Amino acid sequence: MISELKEKLLKLSDEITNSISLCKDLNDLENIRINSLGKKGTITSYLKNLREYDEVSKKEIGALINDIKDKVNNLILEKKSFFKTQILNEKLITEKIDVTLTPYENETGSLHPLSRTIEELCAIFADMGFSIVEGPDIETDYYNFTALNIPYEHPARQEHDTFYLHPDENGNRKVLRTHTSPVQIRTMEKIDLENFDEIRYIIPGRTYRSDHDATHSPMFHQCEGLVLGKNINMGHLKGCLIEFCRTYFNEENLPVRFRPSYFPFTEPSAEVDIGCKKEKDGSLSIGSGEDWLEILGSGMVHPRVLQGVGIDPSKYQGFAFGMGLERLTMLKYGIPDLRPFYDSDLRWLKHYGFVPVDNPSLHSGLNGVFS
Ligand code: DAH
Repeated sequence: MISELKEKLLKLSDEITNSISLCKDLNDLENIRINSLGKKGTITSYLKNLREYDEVSKKEIGALINDIKDKVNNLILEKKSFFKTQILNEKLITEKIDVTLTPYENETGSLHPLSRTIEELCAIFADMGFSIVEGPDIETDYYNFTALNIPYEHPARQEHDTFYLHPDENGNRKVLRTHTSPVQIRTMEKIDLENFDEIRYIIPGRTYRSDHDATHSPMFHQCEGLVLGKNINMGHLKGCLIEFCRTYFNEENLPVRFRPSYFPFTEPSAEVDIGCKKEKDGSLSIGSGEDWLEILGSGMVHPRVLQGVGIDPSKYQGFAFGMGLERLTMLKYGIPDLRPFYDSDLRWLKHYGFVPVDNPSLHSGLNGVFS
C-alpha cells in the first residue's frame, strides 16, 4: 500500500518535472504551479490525504511529499527566472535606443495671437469694470435667433450661413452659434431682479458660419459686450467704445465714428469705425488719414429683447456690442490672410513677431502654438 503510494508520488513528480521542462512560457508555467501546488493541486491533495495514514506511514509519506513539493517549487522558480531573462533579452535585441541620434528639436512657441487679443480685451474691459462670462458653442434656435428678436422669417437668419445639427426626436435643430450674442440672453436670464443694480459683461468665444475665404473661416472668434442698468444711455456706449478702440490700437487720439446701422437686437444701432489711411499698395495705417474702417457693431439693447427675458425696458436700459477677434488681430498686426491663424506654423508666428526669431531652444513641456 505504502510502496504503491510512493510509486504514484514519484511518477507524479516525474510528470510535473517533465511538464516544467517542456513548458513554453510564463502562462504555461503558472498553470503547472496552480495544478500541482495550488489549493486544489495534485501535490496539495496528497498532503491533505495524509491524515488517513498511521503515524509511521504519515512521517514517511509526508517527508516524500514535502521533498517533491520543494523540488517542484524550485524548478518552477528556476524556469520563471529563465523566462524573464529570455523576455528581457528579446527586448534588448528588438528595442534599440540609439543614443547617438540627433535629439528631436522642440521649438518654443508662444501664445496664439488670438489668445493674446482675448487677454488684451479682457484686461482693457476689466479696467472699465467688466466681468468675463462664457456660453455654449452649441445653441438652441431660441437663444441664437428668436430671443434676439430674429424671428423665423427674418432675413438675418439667411445672412448668418448657419451650421445646423441633426434634428432631435421633436424635430428641433440645434445650431453652432453664429455669434456670441445669445450669451447676452443667457446672462440676462440669470439676473436676480430683486437685487440688481448694474451688470457689465464681456463674452469672448468661438462662433461658426459656413463661409471660407482669405478673410472668413467657418470657425472664428467674437467678443460680445453687455451693460445693463437703470440709467444706461447712448453716451455710455460711446464713451466705453471710444476708450476701448483707443486703448486696443494704442492711439490716444484715434478718430472713432458711430455710423447708424441696423441689428435686430438693438435700437438704435451703430457701427463703429476708426480713422485710418488705406495705402495704394493695399496696406493700412491706423489712426491717421481720411479713410474709415469698420471695427464693431453696437447699439442700445432692443426693448423687445429685454421684455423677452422678463426685464422691464421702462426701468432698465442697456447697450451691447460685438466684434470679430480675427479681424481685430489682423488689423492690429497687419495680417492680410486669416487662414494661417489655424495652421500652427511657427514660421508665421515669427514673421509677425509673435515669437523671438532666434530661439530654437531644446526643451520639453509646453510648446507649440495653441488657440
Ligand atoms: N452679433 C452681431 C454679429 O455677429 C454683432 C453685434 C452687433 C453684437 C451689435 C451686438 C450688437 O451685441 O449690439 O454680426
